[in-house]
Amino acid sequence: MASSSPAGRTRTKKKITGAPDYDDAAFWDTKFATGQDVGEWLNSGEGLIEAVLSDLERRPLPSGRPRVLHLGPGISKLGTKLRDAFVRRGWMGNGIVNVDFSSEAVRLGQELESGREATQAMHWVSADLRSWDDIMSTNLSHFAPFDVILDKSTSDAIATSEPQIFSSSSDSGICPTVREIVDQNQNGDGKEISLSPVELLSLHLVPLTQKGTTWIALSYSTSRFDNLPHLAAHWRLVSRTGLPAPSGETSSSAAHTPQVFHWIYILQRK
Ligand SMILES: C[S@@+](CC[C@H](N)C(=O)[O-])C[C@H]1O[C@@H](n2cnc3c(N)ncnc32)[C@H](O)[C@@H]1O
Repeated sequence: MASSSPAGRTRTKKKITGAPDYDDAAFWDTKFATGQDVGEWLNSGEGLIEAVLSDLERRPLPSGRPRVLHLGPGISKLGTKLRDAFVRRGWMGNGIVNVDFSSEAVRLGQELESGREATQAMHWVSADLRSWDDIMSTNLSHFAPFDVILDKSTSDAIATSEPQIFSSSSDSGICPTVREIVDQNQNGDGKEISLSPVELLSLHLVPLTQKGTTWIALSYSTSRFDNLPHLAAHWRLVSRTGLPAPSGETSSSAAHTPQVFHWIYILQRK
């Protein structure tokens, strides 16, 4: 099947039969609208909140308004919990921006925020993070540069997309960071470049962040950010910490079932 195709640059998708459409906004819309989503992927995210708060507490925050970009919140309670922690610290919750390509997630999120005091209401933005055109058509850049990027299994979902191909003839809707790579390649052998979806995400985050911005991600993968040279040019992997997965994910009947881990990644913008 063909996946949703940001800016028309993806090739026809060779999808494994039966694999879920994690890279398709309509798949998530249906899940959220019909109550089929578990509501919280991997775990409840307490470790992520701790990591975000301790990062922000180390920063000078003269405006009392830390800026956090929350990637793919879906219907998770993580953003709300983070906002509550902001309020307890006297920080403004309206520095938290939730971005998801599911219009249903955005609608539900906005509904929850409506009626909240303006300085505490989180923002919700609808955009496909693989599409620079999409990102630019929102007001995301008005909130930039973000201090922290929060990602709870969203790069996992994005990782299921096909790589995107760029060349010097690619249209104008290209992120400047990607354009630079394409132009450098043009000086070399002029071939097309292929960017894996997580690498593309990392490049799209560059203009929205600044040196020292922290990207905090929870993933099931032990190698979510490995072997991505264009990502590594802009993001330094600081740590990868294993957390035992909540019980119930492994069979309790097996006496020697190996412990399953999830991983908190901390990356820092160079
Ligand atoms: C695995 S779920 C995680 C949801 C939530 N963070 C949690 O922990 O429960 C992935 C989320 O990312 C969103 N998503 C997937 N691909 C996306 C993309 N390319 N752009 C924006 N959002 C995306 C989905 O709509 C969904 O809400």
